[in-house]
This record gives sequence, C-alpha cells and structure tokens, in this order.
Amino acid sequence: MPSVLNSSRPTTRIKIFSERMLAAMLKNTSYNSKVSTPVFQSKRGCRMLGKNMKRILVTGATGQIGSELTIELRKKYSHDNVVAAGHKRTPSETLLKSGSFESIDITNKEGLERIVEKYDIDTVYHLGAVLSGVGEQNPQAAWHINMDGLYNVLQVAKEHELVRVFWPSSIAVFGPEAPRVNTPQNTVLIPRTMYGVTKVAGELLCNYYFSRFGVDVRSVRYPGIISSETPPGGGTTDYAVEIFYEAIKKKRYTCFVRQDTVLPMMYMPDCIKGTIDLMETDPSRIKCRTSYNMSAMSFSAGQLAAEIKKLCPEFECEYKPDFRQQIADSWIMSMDDSVARKEWGWKPTYDNLAVMTKDMMEILTKKFEAGILP
Ligand SMILES: NC(=O)c1ccc[n+]([C@@H]2O[C@H](COP(=O)([O-])OP(=O)(O)OC[C@H]3O[C@@H](n4cnc5c(N)ncnc54)[C@H](O)[C@@H]3O)[C@@H](O)[C@H]2O)c1
Repeated sequence: MPSVLNSSRPTTRIKIFSERMLAAMLKNTSYNSKVSTPVFQSKRGCRMLGKNMKRILVTGATGQIGSELTIELRKKYSHDNVVAAGHKRTPSETLLKSGSFESIDITNKEGLERIVEKYDIDTVYHLGAVLSGVGEQNPQAAWHINMDGLYNVLQVAKEHELVRVFWPSSIAVFGPEAPRVNTPQNTVLIPRTMYGVTKVAGELLCNYYFSRFGVDVRSVRYPGIISSETPPGGGTTDYAVEIFYEAIKKKRYTCFVRQDTVLPMMYMPDCIKGTIDLMETDPSRIKCRTSYNMSAMSFSAGQLAAEIKKLCPEFECEYKPDFRQQIADSWIMSMDDSVARKEWGWKPTYDNLAVMTKDMMEILTKKFEAGILP
C-alpha cells in the first residue's frame, strides 16, 4: 500500500489555501455552522473524501466504548487493519490477542504521528478522553486531554491526509437553557461542565477542520452508553451500568443520582452500529459537520431499578445523590435525532428499556456464574 506520509505538503499548498480563503472572503462566503460543504478543499482533500478506509487507529481502545468498537472493527475490516491504542488502563486479553496494540498519550502529537506512520493509518476513531465526572474533579486535565488530544488528531489528519476521522461528542454539550425534552439538533449550547465545554469546542473544531481543510471528520452526540464488556470510565451516566453489576453481585445498589433523574441512554450494540454506519456513509450525505444528535431511549434511574427488580426480585436500590446530580440536572432528558435518521439512516435496534435490561442481566449473570464479572 503506498504511503502518503512522506509526501511533501506544504508551504506552497498552505499558501494556495490562504489565497483561496482570501478570494472567498472577498466574495463574502458565509460560514454556516449547521452544515456543510467544505469551503476550501485541496485536490488531495477531494480525493481524500473519495478514498476507502484501510488502516484504522482507535484511541481510547481500552475504554468502555473503544474496547468493543475495536473488536467490531477488527471483525469487519480484518484484525490486521485495526490498531488499538490504549493509555494507562491495562488492555484485555481479547484486545491484546486480536491485533496490534500501542500505548499513546494523545496530548503528544509526535507519538501519535509515529503510530500513524508505523502502521500507515488512514482512519482514526478518536475515543481517548476524560469524561464528565472525572472532568469536574480535574477541569484542567479535561481541557488539556480533550482539546489538545482532538487538535492533535485533526492536525495529523490534515498533515498526513487521512481519509476519515470519527470523534464522539456527547449530550453534555447541552446546558439548562436548551429544551430538555426532544432537544433539537440545533439549539443553544451552554454546558455547565468542563467536559461539556470541551465537547462544544470540539464540535466547532471538527466543523472548522472540515470546512477549512477538507478533513472528513464525523461525529455524533452519544447519550449515556450502557454495556456489559468494560466498566465505564467516570461519566455521569455510569450509574446506569453500575446498577447491573451491583444487582447481580450484591442485590443492592446505591445510586448517585435521584430516582426521578431522566437521561437519554443507548445500549452498546446500537452505539457501535451507529458509529460504524456514520463512518461508512457516503460523504455527500453528511451535512452536519459539528455533531449529530443520536438517540435510542430515555428513562429515569427509578424506572431502570424497577425493571431490574422484575428480573431479580431481591434487588433493592437506594438513592444518595452526589456532585454528579447537579451535572445530570443540567443535561437534557431526550433528544430529537431526526436529522441523523434522515441524512444517514440512523435507527436504533434497542429502543425498549425492558429488552435492553433483560439482555444486560443475561450477559452479566453468565459472567458472574463463570466467575469473570469484575
Ligand atoms: N460512555 C459514555 O456514556 C459516553 C457518552 C458520551 C460520549 N462519550 C465519549 O466517547 C468517548 C469514549 O468514551 P468511553 O466511555 O469509552 O470512555 P472511557 O473513560 O471508558 O475511555 C476513555 C479512554 O481514554 C483514555 N485516555 C485518557 N487520557 C488519555 C490520553 N492522554 N491519551 C490517550 N488516551 C487517553 C483512557 O485510557 C480511557 O481508556 C469519549 O470521547 C467520551 O467523551 C462516552
């Protein structure tokens, strides 16, 4: 496979961009955040959008989503073509044995470039991040890792002319000013957490790299993700996963948000499917280059506990809200994802709390009985 990595890019090309930019500005080209056609695109930029993805890098591959997404991508595009990049978390045996694994600090651009060059990477799923709960404990680290990390990925995508980048945003972009029910695709974004701030800024950065440099970066606003493989890494919706583990192990759970707290949620198979579907969609259909609302179901912590109790009658849940309650209260309850449905055919398979709960309980019970539930 020919490497594009050593192609000299540069000054002249950048100069051409600048002149085009100036010309477009003089013609009053307007900037539209909703959408988009890249305003400035090099010849290579156009080719870029047409090329097929071949060699994939997943950052944050040891995380809740990355650990499952990597395995699915390996099944789909062959094990040799998907490189998992972890950070401090120890990778699972499955991840280690199913393909290449590298350690990476996403705030170090040279380190990222080394891996892109070593494996001739042309597509990045950038999942390495600090989540909302941990982010509020250390806002500086959240800003540094989430913003510098994304900036590095986008810069490397631009400089090495990668084919495509995926970066997830979150329901954390919305703040109390946004309509809380059926929140529209385009609405006011004034988050109250540093995590949310990094997601709003990240969406704008992605849109900028697409419209300014033709980087084919795509994004969705994930709701809380519920999964049975890797425990979540410090978000505000972690209770919706922890509750299952504790119900099976101890038949009790102390929930860190109030019983009536309603948030949008999604089961992992839908998260993986939506992510890969978006990445496989023809570029001409992707009109939103900030981030798409992507939704599946919404329920309260109390409704989830009641559903678990139907399958495990001894289960008891108590509620002791901590600092994450305030974060949850600033978020939305449900999302309008009709734009994603219309533009790239998004449709969740699991939109029913009872069905998802039964599936989670069955999988985790089997793990518990086999003595492998963490
Ligand atoms: N899980 C959810 O419910 C949810 C919801 C909305 C958005 N998201 C987004 O999805 C992405 C993945 O989330 P997740 O739930 O898998 O998170 P996670 O915390 O489980 O995993 C994130 C990974 O990032 C890695 N990481 C941290 N600092 C790093 C650094 N400096 N360099 C490289 N890697 C680093 C960690 O090792 C971790 O494994 C994140 O962008 C997150 O904001 C997740």
